[in-house]
Amino acid sequence: MHLTPTQKSHLEATAKALVAAPKGILAADESNATIAKRFEAIGIPNSETARRDYRHLLFTSPDVAKTVSGVILYDETIRQKAADGTPLTKILLDQGVFPGIKVDTGAKEMAGYPGEKITEGLDGLRERLAEYAKLGARFTKWRAVITIGAGTPTPANLHANTHALARYAALAQEAGLVPIVEPEVLMDADNTIQVCEAVTGQALQNLFSELKTMGVHLPGVLLKPNMVIAGKKCPKQATAQEVAERTVKTLKAHVPKTVAGIVFLSGGQTPEQATDHLRIMNTLGPHPWVLSFSYGRALQEPALKAWAGKAANVKKAQKEFQAVANANAQATLGKKA
Ligand code: 13P
Repeated sequence: MHLTPTQKSHLEATAKALVAAPKGILAADESNATIAKRFEAIGIPNSETARRDYRHLLFTSPDVAKTVSGVILYDETIRQKAADGTPLTKILLDQGVFPGIKVDTGAKEMAGYPGEKITEGLDGLRERLAEYAKLGARFTKWRAVITIGAGTPTPANLHANTHALARYAALAQEAGLVPIVEPEVLMDADNTIQVCEAVTGQALQNLFSELKTMGVHLPGVLLKPNMVIAGKKCPKQATAQEVAERTVKTLKAHVPKTVAGIVFLSGGQTPEQATDHLRIMNTLGPHPWVLSFSYGRALQEPALKAWAGKAANVKKAQKEFQAVANANAQATLGKKA
């Protein structure tokens, strides 16, 4: 793909700002269906106002800009206004926090490949990106879901998902928006850490080959990978040290040094695990890239629980959020909070 030097340096500057130490990204881009599950688990009715109030709580946490460089939003959220009429994007931008946007339209069953998913959303993406840029977005995210199982992932699934990621990344860069490419190998199965390592390696290999074919400008890309970890149902769980070492080894083997930064997903790890793994990885450096976070659940769980849908709990919830965000900011420096 062709980008002018000005387009390239704009993308590089945004990507660099998103991984400026010790900050990371807050993934708050749960679809309405996903946030419904999170709310339901703690008895909060899933209304548009509740979703707005919850995101507002996170975005107005005192000192949020010290630990969070950008927030990934959902289509509904990027258009929402606080109770006083201020757009949520303005609340972020006024603090120097970049609004981002999830632009895929979800992972669907892949035709002919039972048990595997393909992420959709390329049709009309150029037009949607232009609108999101107008709404204040500076970066974007696309998540591919890779499922470990008997005979999966198949080469067909890896090819289709990484090809879509590369087409998305090219469109995002054309629109001046940094793409976060997320090939998530799920950690729900009973596989060993060795299997996760092999599959993560394959996924990354496929992804960077597709990005190269498409001519995507890697210094204007952030990678959002899973950590290399045993499946949740595997009886033999690895130590935090082993997770950190295998993750770093896999990234070093498959991720070009020119990629602007790596921001992990948490994928169902507890907040403590996600922070600890990130911290240990950063003690193993220096690495070719910044290793930071782009967590959803691991950043939000304690705050969501503390809030429980009640205005009276907002301050308490913000404290919880800041504590976790701060612990992860410290972890990007290899330090304990
Ligand atoms: P988790 O950290 O909860 O896995 O979410 C990150 C994310 O954005 C998944 O797409």
